[in-house]
Amino acid sequence: MPDDATDAYICDLFATEDAPLRAARERHDALGLPPIHVSPDEGRLLFVLLRSIGARRVLEIGTLGGYSGIWIARALPADGRLVTIEREPAHAEAAARSFAEAGVADRIEQLVGDATERLASLEPPFDAVFVDADKEPMPHYYQEAMRLLRPGGLLLGDNAFFHGRVLDPDDRGADVEGIRTFARLAAEDPSLDATIVPVRDGLVVGVKRPA
Ligand code: SAH
Ligand code: DHB
Ligand code: MG
Repeated sequence: MPDDATDAYICDLFATEDAPLRAARERHDALGLPPIHVSPDEGRLLFVLLRSIGARRVLEIGTLGGYSGIWIARALPADGRLVTIEREPAHAEAAARSFAEAGVADRIEQLVGDATERLASLEPPFDAVFVDADKEPMPHYYQEAMRLLRPGGLLLGDNAFFHGRVLDPDDRGADVEGIRTFARLAAEDPSLDATIVPVRDGLVVGVKRPA
């Protein structure tokens, strides 16, 4: 659990894709971008979580083709802001087209560059940070996300299970270890209340405590 049938049930009821979301996914395929965007049910979960806190200013690390960005931007008010960082210019260009087609480009600021270098120049407060890029630096992304989040803000981290590799104690890959450390930091940090929602590849969800 969840399996393909429960995923499909959730998607059919709550997360049916409209034309701009479908177009964003089809653009991935056409341009040969890796098919590692969030699923519709995970996109819907991000949307509901952001709505629940009235998020206005969100940071995403890992834009890819903009699929998750559309879900996130749609959760924001018209004067809200998504800042999203992407290292690969071709991914960022695809995302820019998908954001324009979805009518959310005015709410999105795209930063093209390496997140490990660009995060330091960002200033708090953000209402939520979605960490969904390379996995080895996830402990660094954790520290930067906690610096940037306001009290009551949401820490969101994709790929908590990394296709089951996180659960295999013999797998000591640097990417897997980065994800494990991210989860352990989230679990043990006295300034965060967190868990893993077992949606698809696992989503770390945490709320930053008041100072
Ligand atoms: N959030 C997207 C999926 C992101 S996939 C969605 O659900 O639609 C991960 C992305 O992170 C890829 O596009 C990859 O190029 C980018 N990435 C990997 N390492 C990065 C880094 N150090 N800085 C910025 N982007 C990075
Ligand atoms: C992979 C999947 C992801 O969702 C991601 O953010 C990065 C990598 C993967 O399957 O390799
Ligand atoms: Mg991911």
